[in-house]
Amino acid sequence: MRSLEPKLRPLIGPEQIRQRIRELAQEIRRDYAQQYPVLVGVLKGAFVFLADLVRELRIPVECDFVKISSYGKNTETSGQITLQLDTTIPLAGRHVLVVEDIVDTGLTTAWLIEHLKKKTPASLRVCALLDKPARRRLEVPIDYVGFRIPDRFVVGYGIDCAEAFRELDYIGYVAQEETAP
Ligand code: IMP
Repeated sequence: MRSLEPKLRPLIGPEQIRQRIRELAQEIRRDYAQQYPVLVGVLKGAFVFLADLVRELRIPVECDFVKISSYGKNTETSGQITLQLDTTIPLAGRHVLVVEDIVDTGLTTAWLIEHLKKKTPASLRVCALLDKPARRRLEVPIDYVGFRIPDRFVVGYGIDCAEAFRELDYIGYVAQEETAP
């Protein structure tokens, strides 16, 4: 059921996303030239972003994925992180770039950085499409940020609310005044 749809407001449009990804790709291409990095997409939310980013990069990369759950069906983090799928490419000695949809409290990213460090990569950086600094509980280094956004619950462009809205080509938010019960 997509009962939230009428309450969705646009926040970042498709052309704005495309343009920002072009800029991020340029930066990443410059930083990783000749390094054959492994991009580790964080499922499910980063799948659209990763797909667009790799095609803009135009340098050879390998792609792997982790699946982490921390949210369940609520809009608040449970703080409980479970690794549901781990990388399969050996990361020892590789240049690894984590590709995230959103860094919110920072708990997921902090946990993931510690997890991936144990695989002894040559370098480890983080690229996040969205950064919601207002709700940060753990400081985490984000090397590439697409957009810094206010404290809103967002959906679209791969990002869901209870599995809905991932297919939207824009990022929208659930209008505040209409979320009260
Ligand atoms: P964190 O551990 O609180 O930083 O949350 C990270 C994860 O929570 C993200 O990768 C998203 O999957 C999810 N998340 C955080 N904010 C939102 C949001 O506004 N909409 C949908 N998912 C979100």
